[in-house]
Amino acid sequence: MPSSISVGREARKANRRLSPRAMFLREFFRRPVMVGSIIPSSNRTIRRVLDRVDWGNVRMFVEYGPGVGTFCQAVLDRLGPDGQYVAIDTNPDFVAYLRDTVRDPRFSVVQGSAEDVESIVADHGHESADYVLSGLPFSTLPPGVGDRIVAATRRVLRQDGAFLVYQFNPNVRNFLTPHFDHIDYEIEWWNVPPAQIWWAWKD
Ligand SMILES: C[S@@+](CC[C@H](N)C(=O)[O-])C[C@H]1O[C@@H](n2cnc3c(N)ncnc32)[C@H](O)[C@@H]1O
Repeated sequence: MPSSISVGREARKANRRLSPRAMFLREFFRRPVMVGSIIPSSNRTIRRVLDRVDWGNVRMFVEYGPGVGTFCQAVLDRLGPDGQYVAIDTNPDFVAYLRDTVRDPRFSVVQGSAEDVESIVADHGHESADYVLSGLPFSTLPPGVGDRIVAATRRVLRQDGAFLVYQFNPNVRNFLTPHFDHIDYEIEWWNVPPAQIWWAWKD
């Protein structure tokens, strides 16, 4: 009879063998409401979202809902040597996958909810985050969760920091406007479906 440790190891090995797209699709069918999308973001969406970040002044970069890590390498390529990058996801399979596949001392992944971003940032030795990136499916999250996440994000951001949000559902704006006055918005058509992008600034 195999021990639970070796079963866990086997499951992790099997996950590592999956391509990011296959892993993403599998998790979408397992947890459609929490994953919220069938295809990860395109490279153009990634570049466009990250282009407005002032990378020379980033010490703490947070990501909500990294999934299979579609943004991870792009963030690490831009982040300075002293920067820290903390990703938060509720899905234990995505968390295990990222721990196995993204090996960089600046990167860590926490299994938990974005609602708890303030304590997670504090646990990593910072008082605030410079930028928070989100691929969360706001419109399918349980009632109240989206609003609590945006409120906590505003509190955790430093002055002049920004909440970077990409989604295909335009209703995300309704979650942002009660907490942020200055919001920039664009659409990236080269994405399936087209990505709506918001930069909500704390200024
Ligand atoms: C649409 S996927 C994002 C995929 C990825 N970022 C991309 O670019 O393709 C949404 C992710 O949000 C995660 N998620 C859902 N609710 C969450 C919460 N309250 N806190 C953190 N992550 C959550 C899901 O597990 C999933 O990984």
